[in-house]
Amino acid sequence: VAPKDPSKPPTVFHWLPIIGSAVGYGNDPLNFFLACREKYGDVFTFILFGRRVTVALGAKGNNFVLGGKSTVLNAEDAYTHLTTPVFGKDVVYDVPNEKFMEQKRFVKVGLSTENLRAYVGMIEDEVEEYMNNDANFRVYGMNDINDWGMFDVVSVLQEITILTASRTLQGKEVRSKLDKTFSQLYNDLDGGFTPLNFLFPNLPLESYRRRDRANVKMTEFYVDIIQKRRQAGADSDHDMIAALIKQTYRDGTPLKDHEIAHILIALLMAGQHTSSATGSWALLHIAENPDVGEALYQEQVKYFGTPDGNLRSMTYEELRELPVLDAVIRETLRLHPPIHSIMRYVRDDVSVPPSLAAPSKDGVFVVPKGHYVLASPSVSQMDPRVWMDAQRFDVSRWTDPDGVAAQAFKAYADENGEKIDYGFGAVSKGTESPYQPFGAGRHRCIGEQFAYLQLGTLISTMIRKVELRLKDPVPAHNYHTMIVMPKKPRTILYRRRKFD
Ligand code: HEM
Repeated sequence: VAPKDPSKPPTVFHWLPIIGSAVGYGNDPLNFFLACREKYGDVFTFILFGRRVTVALGAKGNNFVLGGKSTVLNAEDAYTHLTTPVFGKDVVYDVPNEKFMEQKRFVKVGLSTENLRAYVGMIEDEVEEYMNNDANFRVYGMNDINDWGMFDVVSVLQEITILTASRTLQGKEVRSKLDKTFSQLYNDLDGGFTPLNFLFPNLPLESYRRRDRANVKMTEFYVDIIQKRRQAGADSDHDMIAALIKQTYRDGTPLKDHEIAHILIALLMAGQHTSSATGSWALLHIAENPDVGEALYQEQVKYFGTPDGNLRSMTYEELRELPVLDAVIRETLRLHPPIHSIMRYVRDDVSVPPSLAAPSKDGVFVVPKGHYVLASPSVSQMDPRVWMDAQRFDVSRWTDPDGVAAQAFKAYADENGEKIDYGFGAVSKGTESPYQPFGAGRHRCIGEQFAYLQLGTLISTMIRKVELRLKDPVPAHNYHTMIVMPKKPRTILYRRRKFD
């Protein structure tokens, strides 16, 4: 039966015609969405510098946006003006989705279990070396073993993330150039990956020109490495270049050098801020909760303690089986998913399922062609209707299935017919879930295992060496960058463990 009353979702009230709700959304999207939900329900449209953005909240909203057909709700139309100048041509959102899906498959080859196994020791080495270096992290530079030192958690995590990602995924050539050519180019590219670039793709600004020059230079830098690798023949490295060189599209054509280069840039950008933000938030919460730090440390002792009182290295398989560590990362991503807004461009009018929202009993909302749709897993991940003490960092949600917090979540899941998987990584693989820090559906993150590995190894290696405390409360979210970061000050106090 055709619905009697098709209508557009309600529009959020705003005073300024073009700017619309840009200020409220830009400063604090989470509270903006919550306030709108009070007034308008789970589906509403707001104006963002002339764009019409229809938000769909909750697990059902996530499903509507992330489970939509890519011919109707399209990612490349939403993102390409931001990403293509940074990543470069012929990859990701600069190509039709079928081609990008092939590229995602190629990247998965580079993220094979065999490669991930090889990475644990490398990351451990990098973190140790970083912490042993007085200039970075003065663990060994202090006079008295009882002294507390301090560090800015975001600066430290940004450095460690790029060191470990280049040592593993990006490969030895990138790692060896990190402190010279590479970091300047990286900074220039990164300066072109901001909300301003998303909102206004073509401003005559110096940062836009620097971004474009850096893309050309960075592409040359990678192409040079790729050509040398091709000339050297057989490649036994466990990195992404080694994996991509061997891949061919279904029509038989191999990946071109510039495509490999641009995929590497895309992976660098996708992994750098997401991992460094998550690592920062994780350490802030560990420092805030000394009992969590102690539980993490005891877990290391239990699994890796040796008779002589030391801690041995861990394997990838062992890392995946550490319940406290897993819960810390999971709970961090629940409270601080680095990506607060996932967008798609609406290519054709699309109806909102009435179970999500409807104007009346017999009516249906239609989101018109030309709108954007937006899912925000942050909202469902902090929804008090789903999570007990939703704002609280509580690892027992994940470590203690019989605990009150886990039971509350289970009650929600049972009522809503959701299957919860307590294994390593995702809570649920479907598109309808209140917990989706890595997105869902065809655009779902392929870096999740790598991120858990990188963060898990980093946190373990640090916790083995130092105790952490917090000076000030856990900072508020800064939403003015593409990836949600902690506001300053974000200082952590640390003290070297005595046995060391
Ligand atoms: C996609 C989150 C780390 C590569 C996504 C999406 C999210 C996400 C939410 C979906 C975007 C959308 O649907 O529009 C995260 C988080 C990370 C992380 C929270 C770390 C804590 C990484 C890393 C890599 C990576 C380390 C690479 C090694 C990708 C790729 C996509 C993706 C290739 C696919 C984009 C698409 O298909 O459109 N990620 N990511 N991510 N991520 Fe991640």
